[in-house]
Amino acid sequence: MKKRIYIGRRIPQAAVDLIAEHCDYGYWNALEPCPRDVFLAEAAQSDAVITQSVSEKIDLEFLNAAPRCKVVAQMAVGYDNVDVPACTARGVQITNTPDVLTEATADAAWALLMATARRVVSGHKLIQENRWGMWHPFFQLGQDVHGATLGVVGAGRIGSAIARRGKGFNMPILYHNRRPSPELEASLGAQYRALDDLLREADFVVMSAPLTSETRGMFGAREFALMKDTAVFINIARGAVMQEKALYEALKAGRPWAAGSDVYEVEPTPASNPLFTLDNFVGTPHVASATLPTRLAMATLAARNAIAVLSGKPPITPVNKI
Ligand code: GLV
Repeated sequence: MKKRIYIGRRIPQAAVDLIAEHCDYGYWNALEPCPRDVFLAEAAQSDAVITQSVSEKIDLEFLNAAPRCKVVAQMAVGYDNVDVPACTARGVQITNTPDVLTEATADAAWALLMATARRVVSGHKLIQENRWGMWHPFFQLGQDVHGATLGVVGAGRIGSAIARRGKGFNMPILYHNRRPSPELEASLGAQYRALDDLLREADFVVMSAPLTSETRGMFGAREFALMKDTAVFINIARGAVMQEKALYEALKAGRPWAAGSDVYEVEPTPASNPLFTLDNFVGTPHVASATLPTRLAMATLAARNAIAVLSGKPPITPVNKI
């Protein structure tokens, strides 16, 4: 009998075609997320599911509802929506899509960094609202990016790609990781710092570590108070790594000087999120990997992971060991 894959959201057609070549499939062919009851019922009749980190929760309820499903092929690098130990205990293979989104995500981190440092959004808004008024030498002053110190928290694939871009701006690179990275030190001259030291020294603090029990709530009032009053904080990781209320208070008080984020404690974040009342905050709606070539590569890799495991081959990018 052919194996069945359920695709829980519209994905690039080439990935659907690839799945169709190898397996039967069900498809929630819509931009809106699949309702939970439909997803669980479809997963129950499938050997694998293709999931999105922002919409499908892979928890005990899922595992109990879908005992036939042995592969969760996530179309994202992050997998904080997945109860990995519970899946491993049930023999469910989790895969993700690292590498293929690294460069697009690093570009997006830099888009936020530049926009925040040079006040791109507040400048755009003031023209839109007819508030340009008089130019003067202190009008819309930003922070220098070139030559400033870049501090990357979580120097994995994405953090390293962000750091690499910093070299083009002549930036000394500091990084904080669970463990030192001799490669990063050799290739970029990056220097390891304890977190507090990095926060004190960096002009740009970019958070790119995954959400784990260690990083949840990592950036709060204490951490923001350690930053310079000219510093810029960028969050390209997950909303829950920062305490949004503390960030709001810190930005209002002017330390750090500004912040940019692609991610929020609750998504979609509402327009009433107080961060969006601040001129020194720039937000994007969780779109760091949102380019068509990258999304195509992510969808194709998720499909290839599911197909590989269902054909008895090793997964290409496994999260857990089964
Ligand atoms: C996006 O947030 C991802 O984890 O790929």
